[in-house]
Amino acid sequence: MKSDMRPLNMFLQFLLLFLMLPLCSSTDTITPNQPFRDGDLLVSKQSRFALGFFSPRNSTLRYIGVWYNTIREQTVVWVLNRDHPINDTSGVLSINTSGNLLLHRGNTHVWFTNVSISSVNATVAQLLDTGNLVLIQNDVKGVLWQGFDHPTDTLFPHMKLGLDRRTGLNRFLTSWKSPEDPGTGEYSFKLDVSGSPQLFLSMGSEWIWRTGPWNGLGFVGVPEMLTTFIFDIRFWNTVDEVSMEFTLVNSSTFSSIKLGSDGLYQRYTLDERNHQLVAIWSASRDPCDNYDRCGPNSNCDVYAGAGFECTCLAGFEPKSQRDWSLRDGSGGCVRIQGTNTCRSGEGFIKIAGVKPPDASTARVNESLNLEGCKKECLNDCNCRAYTSANVSAGGSGCLSWYGDLMDIRTLAQGGQDLFVRVDAIILAENERKKTFFHKKRMIVVLAVGVVFFMISMISSSWWIMKKRKGKGRQCKMSFNMSSKARRLNHYSKAKELDESRANSKLQFFDLSIVIAATNNFSFTNKLGRGGFGSVYKGLLSNGQEIAVKRLSKDSGQGVEEFKNEVTLIAKLQHKNLVKLLGCCIEEEEKMLIYEYLPNKSLDSFIFDEAKKSMLAWTKRFEIIIGIARGILYLHQDSRLRIIHRDLKASNILLDIDMIPKISDFGMARLVGKNQIEGSTNRVVGTYGYMSPEYAMEGLFSIKSDVYSFGVLLLEIITGRRNTAYYDDSPSFNLVGYVWSLWREDKALDIVDPSLEKSNHANEVLRCLQIGLLCVQEFAIDRPTMLTVIFMLGNNSTLPPPNQPAFVMKTCHNGANSSSVGVNSVNEVTITMDAR
Ligand SMILES: *[C@@H]1O[C@H](CO)[C@@H](O)[C@H](O)[C@H]1NC(C)=O
Ligand SMILES: *[C@@H]1O[C@H](CO)[C@@H](O)[C@H](O)[C@H]1NC(C)=O
Ligand SMILES: *[C@@H]1O[C@H](CO)[C@@H](O)[C@H](O)[C@H]1NC(C)=O
Ligand SMILES: *[C@@H]1O[C@H](CO)[C@@H](O)[C@H](O)[C@H]1NC(C)=O
Ligand SMILES: *[C@@H]1O[C@H](CO)[C@@H](O)[C@H](O)[C@H]1NC(C)=O
Ligand SMILES: *[C@@H]1O[C@H](CO)[C@@H](O)[C@H](O)[C@H]1NC(C)=O
Ligand SMILES: *[C@@H]1O[C@H](CO)[C@@H](O)[C@H](O)[C@H]1NC(C)=O
Ligand SMILES: *[C@@H]1O[C@H](CO)[C@@H](O)[C@H](O)[C@H]1NC(C)=O
Repeated sequence: MKSDMRPLNMFLQFLLLFLMLPLCSSTDTITPNQPFRDGDLLVSKQSRFALGFFSPRNSTLRYIGVWYNTIREQTVVWVLNRDHPINDTSGVLSINTSGNLLLHRGNTHVWFTNVSISSVNATVAQLLDTGNLVLIQNDVKGVLWQGFDHPTDTLFPHMKLGLDRRTGLNRFLTSWKSPEDPGTGEYSFKLDVSGSPQLFLSMGSEWIWRTGPWNGLGFVGVPEMLTTFIFDIRFWNTVDEVSMEFTLVNSSTFSSIKLGSDGLYQRYTLDERNHQLVAIWSASRDPCDNYDRCGPNSNCDVYAGAGFECTCLAGFEPKSQRDWSLRDGSGGCVRIQGTNTCRSGEGFIKIAGVKPPDASTARVNESLNLEGCKKECLNDCNCRAYTSANVSAGGSGCLSWYGDLMDIRTLAQGGQDLFVRVDAIILAENERKKTFFHKKRMIVVLAVGVVFFMISMISSSWWIMKKRKGKGRQCKMSFNMSSKARRLNHYSKAKELDESRANSKLQFFDLSIVIAATNNFSFTNKLGRGGFGSVYKGLLSNGQEIAVKRLSKDSGQGVEEFKNEVTLIAKLQHKNLVKLLGCCIEEEEKMLIYEYLPNKSLDSFIFDEAKKSMLAWTKRFEIIIGIARGILYLHQDSRLRIIHRDLKASNILLDIDMIPKISDFGMARLVGKNQIEGSTNRVVGTYGYMSPEYAMEGLFSIKSDVYSFGVLLLEIITGRRNTAYYDDSPSFNLVGYVWSLWREDKALDIVDPSLEKSNHANEVLRCLQIGLLCVQEFAIDRPTMLTVIFMLGNNSTLPPPNQPAFVMKTCHNGANSSSVGVNSVNEVTITMDAR
């Protein structure tokens, strides 16, 4: 098998590397009597990094750079003379008689370190395994100068960003001019030290993105920058320095951040086994991430209704009503005319879960608590808002603003509460609303109590009657409403909204009903088993068929939390999602009740020799589109933004008309919290469908779902399982096989023979290409579901796919590869939350 070749290949590569070493006269130090010429190589001790002269692609200019020594494609991470290239190969880097590091070409000094050195003959330059080029005073081992103090476009572990207050040195990233030119480009990524420190990305002098201020736990609004299982973030704000750095949790997983010449800010990990970098995260780019999207004194909320993300803060109105109604929020908001917020009964309204306003103008007082902060802010009529400066350990410190509030946005997670000053009238209105809601809630609670009491009275009498008359009646009552709701389905479009609300009312089933419906979870009723529990077919006494998902007992979520999540998920309504009818929570048991779909799952068709032919190409294409629409709804159209995490053929159910319905969506939310936090938890998914970054690092994003969709797409076209072994396949999995055929222009060979492909060759080929685009190695290269749907529905030219990831086998850890379709569980320690 091909996979047996891998160790041999690796061995040959290393052999080559060792053979090359003497040729390039590589060392790890430059000494005064040993100048470093073009063609030489400086390699760090453990040979993770190399330093040498290089030319960017399409360029003949020579630069000195540091690159990863262990990956195939030369990836330069630091450049010494980025703005002073040498136009031929006569450059020499040496230590001159004053002890400084000097790059010269003949007699021309191109670049030098300008440090004053007392003892002349004792300096050496060395490339460390961190990627840092250092000039060392040999006798005292003191670092005189280091490359890490002059970053280019890549941030390494232990490389500090920020200001050294003693020397005035400010370290920040700047992009290359272009991939062909390492010169100082227009994008920079800096730690802003005025007010409360925050990070920002700018183009020229214009800010384009910022994180919130450091709040004791991390920079607000970038959950990806919180400490994870890969890296740790550290922050200092002392008299000596204001700076941050990240360090590796386990140095065997190397990670770095790069600011691209196009302004893309991305985190990579180094996959040394496969000699490549893997992009695992990029600064998110929804509209509200754009700095100052909604102008001053407004809040940007991508989840806001009405299709417009900007809303004025309480007490403010749009500066230009006209622009606002044209959905242009850039003018921002101004105080409503005639409001008095100075010593006239004003107060504060809380806006929950936001990125605090631009903190570069904020006033910081660490010694106040939130109560003191409020007092202080109230006393100063110019104070517009305040929040906690440090949220770790319950909140301490005070941040307050005295001018326009810029760049506030609602965050899906990790946001902070901001308190905004409003006048007495608005304050009173707000109070009234609150008490109204409170009262209303009391009334609702009372009413519910009374109804509940009556129902329990009635049902207990039913119970007694049932005892006498035998089983079967009880379910009817709890199901009356559902059938009514279903009848509502036939009402006109105008009522759809109300109807979906009625539908989304969640049913709570009695355990006894579920037990009766499933024959006490009998083996004959069992439909299948997944990572989250078993599924049983059930028959309610009113004749309705249901599917019951009995969650494994160790999901560990609290009952209230579980109810809330289920209620939210029940609100998701889409033609391509399985409908959740209700749930049952009793004692240890947590169950989800779904509509039952008689045609079972997609895998029972496409992988079955007898049933394959029932799915002609046009039908398969419709199924592909349906699945894509369902995922898109989960990713972006629904308000919850769900990442499925376990898309696979057996999770796609087919209804009577062969319309695909995604099941198990929302599972990630229901059980995910427990399984993706903490220290000894699990990554849930199925090998073969898991993207490399998810399988190896436990990182998931909408792009990991795109990966799984790509695998599914290839499976539907070829009728082969990704992970099963086929005699004719030279590769260890389907993705690899399709890729090799694709490169030989023979991709149509692998299409399911039961398809009449000649009629649709173009369409089939196009779908194969889309599938390959979805399984590309780097998450950033993969299209979003929106793009996928666009590609499926149009005849636009598609980009050529890059090499896919082949991680499935290497991650198998000897597990039996015939366990296809069954969820495998991999023990990985992660602490990152879903986005
Ligand atoms: C190199 O330059 C040529 C001509 O300017 C251009 O056609 C080609 O695309 C460039 N190659 C790369 C890799 O940028
Ligand atoms: C290289 O640059 C030097 C000045 O830096 C100049 O004198 C020389 O003519 C250039 N050589 C070429 C081949 O362009
Ligand atoms: C060493 O290099 C520095 C920087 O270019 C220069 O100022 C100094 O004169 C040089 N010393 C000698 C002896 O060339
Ligand atoms: C080198 O440093 C000295 C003092 O530290 C300074 O006066 C001089 O201007 C610097 N030279 C250059 C070229 O930066
Ligand atoms: C140079 O180094 C040698 C050996 O370390 C030492 O004996 C000598 O004094 C040094 N010379 C100067 C000028 O510092
Ligand atoms: C935040 O508060 C915690 C606990 O009181 C403290 O340990 C930490 O140093 C504080 N962080 C900052 C940045 O003030
Ligand atoms: C670091 O990772 C390696 C390989 O994944 C593992 O063998 C080692 O135990 C880890 N070390 C620590 C301290 O976790
Ligand atoms: C912080 O607030 C306290 C109490 O109001 C005050 O005494 C102190 O001067 C303030 N510190 C700063 C730096 O403003």
